[in-house]
Amino acid sequence: MEKRSAAAGLSGGIELHPARIMNMISAARFGTTVILCEEVDSTNRIAAEAAAGGAPEGTLFVALRQYSGRGRKGREWFSTEAGSLVFSIILRPQETPESLTTLMGLAAAQTIDEFYPGIETSIKWPNDIFISGTKVAGILAESRGKDVIVGIGIDVNETEDDFPVELKSTAVSLRIASGSKLDRGMLLAAIVDRFEILYTRWEMEGLSIFRFDIEKKLLWKGMEASIETGDGDFSGTVSGVTSEGYLRIRSNGEERIFRAGDLSLRVEER
Ligand code: BTN
Repeated sequence: MEKRSAAAGLSGGIELHPARIMNMISAARFGTTVILCEEVDSTNRIAAEAAAGGAPEGTLFVALRQYSGRGRKGREWFSTEAGSLVFSIILRPQETPESLTTLMGLAAAQTIDEFYPGIETSIKWPNDIFISGTKVAGILAESRGKDVIVGIGIDVNETEDDFPVELKSTAVSLRIASGSKLDRGMLLAAIVDRFEILYTRWEMEGLSIFRFDIEKKLLWKGMEASIETGDGDFSGTVSGVTSEGYLRIRSNGEERIFRAGDLSLRVEER
């Protein structure tokens, strides 16, 4: 189903050349093996397949063309060959993997902030990265037994014309937000380095040590929002996250904790 290549020979192929990326990654555990797929349905799928076959923890799958990217709730993830950065990493955590979506979100958001001091990213709980109200990245963690695949898609160098009509008002790329293009290989290496640092601390101390950092970036914190869960909607003020990374929403003096759900800003009726 996929075509793999060490060097795809295209400009994206050079930018995301595995040897180049491995050279730029200073992390010791993650990214020691990088596989560039010229074309693949989903990097999460291929990473899961490789993990089941015994591929080591930290193996990275990057795609030039991902034609059936998986999103949350069975949605499809749109990406472009010229502009997107899509990759997945194999993990085998000892602890419950629930927090890994948040951890990758934090690593990617902090890395983007570092590359673009003028931009401020937010984390839309539980798995999106936003810039000024529009989505720039999404994360999907999938578990199969002891294997956990964490995949992220980031709109890096897309222009407005690259997005399909239905995404034009909700999606943004780093290029649109900042006015400048970015080397996707460099961004990838920097995210992997940061993610390894966070992951190593998380293994020793859990997610609670990142609570402050997550809350600092939490989209709509202190604002009125609604959360859609399997049991219906709940509205209130987004107050933060728990030490496990669950969402806290306060309403009428009562605080409720959500482990899953779709959050949206509540527009006040006039
Ligand atoms: C979402 O916002 O619903 C999550 C999107 C996750 C997309 C990434 S792209 C790389 C990796 N491979 C996939 O098939 N999905 C994730």
